[in-house]
Amino acid sequence: MREHPPCVVLTGAGISTESGIPDFRSRTGIWARYDPLEYATIDAFLRDPAKVWDFYGKRLAVLGGARPNDGHRALVELEDGGVVRAVVTQNIDRLHELAGTRALVEVHGSIRTSSCLDCGTVVPLAEVVALLPVPHCPACGRVLKPDVVMFGELLPAARIARAEQLAREAGVLLVVGSSLEVHPVAGLPLETLANGGRLAIVNRGATPFDGRAGVRIDAGAGATLTALAGRFQ
Ligand code: APR
Ligand code: ZN
Repeated sequence: MREHPPCVVLTGAGISTESGIPDFRSRTGIWARYDPLEYATIDAFLRDPAKVWDFYGKRLAVLGGARPNDGHRALVELEDGGVVRAVVTQNIDRLHELAGTRALVEVHGSIRTSSCLDCGTVVPLAEVVALLPVPHCPACGRVLKPDVVMFGELLPAARIARAEQLAREAGVLLVVGSSLEVHPVAGLPLETLANGGRLAIVNRGATPFDGRAGVRIDAGAGATLTALAGRFQ
């Protein structure tokens, strides 16, 4: 990371499990209990918004009380120290923002707001929670949609373009806590490698890019990132 600046970090659900938020694909992950086709696709939402809000209502209860952990804080330290240029996250939990990360790209959106698909009204999280179990648009009455990217939806174009540019310009792309199974985000390591950058992976369990990683650490995100930040003090 010293010899090949700048470092761009790509995080997934694995950086937030130490904050009590389950990930998706590990043995204890969300998709082991809920079928993503029934709860996490735009078609499922349009077909039965109340059922999808039942799922999100449970997630908001968990996410609402969650706080950043050592992993999030170590990334802020590395950003303050000029080592990390930006964090691209797939997470919707706002923990990077709460920890203080400034250069942040939330490519899958976040629970910070929900929006009305008819009239475009945007409602902040606190108001949405007060409108549970099924939040309706205060302006036109239609059921609101959480501003997170569901399967079958396009990612916010500007955000994925920014993420791809950061990956292309990265000397090192440091992947933390992601199975790198979901596209287009899983394509970011290819952008880095294609432009002569290097890949480092900190993840419990395998990813499809392990063979292309110059460094691969199969360990906890919090302890590993804390040790990494310590090397730059
Ligand atoms: N430290 C390191 N790795 C961890 C930790 C931890 N404390 N906890 C979990 N992991 C690893 C898991 O073993 C798993 O390999 O993090 C990885 C998380 O992978 P996923 O559960 O697939 O999460 P993610 O890669 O973020 O999923 C991408 O899929 O469902 C969609 O939109 C959702 O953003 C999500 C996307
Ligand atoms: Zn409306």
